[in-house]
Amino acid sequence: MTLADIRRVQQDFVAAAKRAHEAGFKWLELHFAHGFLAQSFLSKHSNARDDAYGGSLENRARFLVETVAAVRQVWPEEFPLTARLGVLEFDGDDGANLAESIDVLKRLKAHGLDLVDVGIGFSTMSPVPWAPNMLVPVAGQVRSETGLPVATSWLIADAKQADGFVRDGQLDLVMVARRLLDNPHWPQQAARQLGVAKPSWVLPTPYAYWLESWAAA
Ligand SMILES: Cc1cc2nc3c(=O)[nH]c(=O)nc-3n(C[C@H](O)[C@H](O)[C@H](O)COP(=O)(O)O)c2cc1C
Repeated sequence: MTLADIRRVQQDFVAAAKRAHEAGFKWLELHFAHGFLAQSFLSKHSNARDDAYGGSLENRARFLVETVAAVRQVWPEEFPLTARLGVLEFDGDDGANLAESIDVLKRLKAHGLDLVDVGIGFSTMSPVPWAPNMLVPVAGQVRSETGLPVATSWLIADAKQADGFVRDGQLDLVMVARRLLDNPHWPQQAARQLGVAKPSWVLPTPYAYWLESWAAA
């Protein structure tokens, strides 16, 4: 990318944020993970630039910092601006990756980021050690070292465990993907398991109304 390309893409982020606001969205998450463009600026595996956007951590983080700052200018202060960031790569150098990511997240926080959705970089083909809840302690470390609220996902499936991660201060939010694809009733079943008084009301109102009416009949 030329410097003009970089400016154009950053302006595209800004334009997309404005459209999202006009369309009524109340939460904006920038995708800075999974080998997408911002992650590939940050990662040593993919960034081979020798200008102001490559080399040192400050340079590799520049695209992310500038983009958050520019989007924050147009995204209303009262609505959350969050980013998904691959904080490690499972490339054998995770201590260093995580330390760099924590440094970058402190900069993003200073420019108005409200929460980080902790993910994986996927900038290399390194095998990921898949295991239930595997990113939770990583997210907990990010939370305690950056002071940013955190969310995470990947193989979080058990409602009681998920609730515990929030209660014990490791996470602020739990993201669930495949369990919802497997079972669209997961949120309601989780609410039941956790003893929520009116579990149907975690669903959209029309569903909740009919389920409650049916249960009462
Ligand atoms: C079929 C499928 C497609 C996905 N596509 C994307 C994608 O395009 N971009 C992305 O950031 N994550 C993608 N993900 C990852 C999800 O965002 C999520 O992080 C992941 O599924 C972990 O959560 P889970 O274990 O609850 O499913 C995909 C996951 C699956 C299963």
